[in-house]
Amino acid sequence: MTKPLGTSIGALDKVASGTAEKDGFFVEAEDIRRDRSGGRQHILMCAPEHFDVSYVINPWMQNQIGRAVHSLAREQWADLRRLLSREADIALIAPAAGLPDMVFSANAGLVIGDRAVVSRFRAPERRPEEALFRAWFERQGFDIAAWPEDVPFEGGGDALLDRALPLLWCGYGVRSGSEAPLVLERVFGRRTVGLRLVDPRFYHLDTCFCPLEGGWLMYYPAAFDAASREAIATLVPPGKRIEVSEDDALRFACNAVDVDGRVVMNDASASLQNRLRAAGFTPTLTPLSEFLKAGGAAKCLTLKLIEN
Ligand code: ARG
Repeated sequence: MTKPLGTSIGALDKVASGTAEKDGFFVEAEDIRRDRSGGRQHILMCAPEHFDVSYVINPWMQNQIGRAVHSLAREQWADLRRLLSREADIALIAPAAGLPDMVFSANAGLVIGDRAVVSRFRAPERRPEEALFRAWFERQGFDIAAWPEDVPFEGGGDALLDRALPLLWCGYGVRSGSEAPLVLERVFGRRTVGLRLVDPRFYHLDTCFCPLEGGWLMYYPAAFDAASREAIATLVPPGKRIEVSEDDALRFACNAVDVDGRVVMNDASASLQNRLRAAGFTPTLTPLSEFLKAGGAAKCLTLKLIEN
């Protein structure tokens, strides 16, 4: 991945720069051209220029149509970007009019090494995003693996790499289809553990499950069926499990981005923050209220371009 990112992000800049003058959303060239030798992570984001709640495809969006405050959304997104860019390089995809959820780049697809799969959205409202994300992955030089037409899969929203074990966790049952874990295993050649999601409020794996460095796992157990809770218990030692309360889960605490020991999240109770500190992390809160109205927070607004 070193080679594609280094060269083509320059091209992306050009696409982005027109808008940069207009509203200042897009990063200055230096920010995204840094080479990868420093070991910094790369994260894909999409500015909220066209973000809105204009349909309902998850319970959070109910009664929120037209209610997102655009100026505040822009500020919150910019704050998140600024925070993450201290430790990671942010790559950007140009937002598109008429695609209000494209800001949730976690759902672009899944990238590991040189290989990418593009999401196959369950909701028809989000399907037009697929071609744009595909084009972006292509421009970056990723090898795009085929994905079966009839298997919904919502990318980094439902597929998370464990940070200690050599495996992928894949959420299914609400958005991604039950075959998704098997297809992923074939495509990326790594063990994939399927976890069935049973609470519609936690419709993507990244809304209730967050693997952290050192094999820690922050998650909300009630979002999973019994067999999945069992699978988690078998693979992650009790001392490494940080179970969050329903209250914290509803604040999207699990929807966190970890960069360099920092756990960046919308909000968390004092007790959860303390538990994260005790595990060696630095919880970093950044309000994302406008995106919660669409059912997303910090993690949903990012896609890690995983190196291996
Ligand atoms: N409104 C979007 C949807 O329902 C939110 C996506 C949030 N993304 C995530 N990775 N959890 O698809």
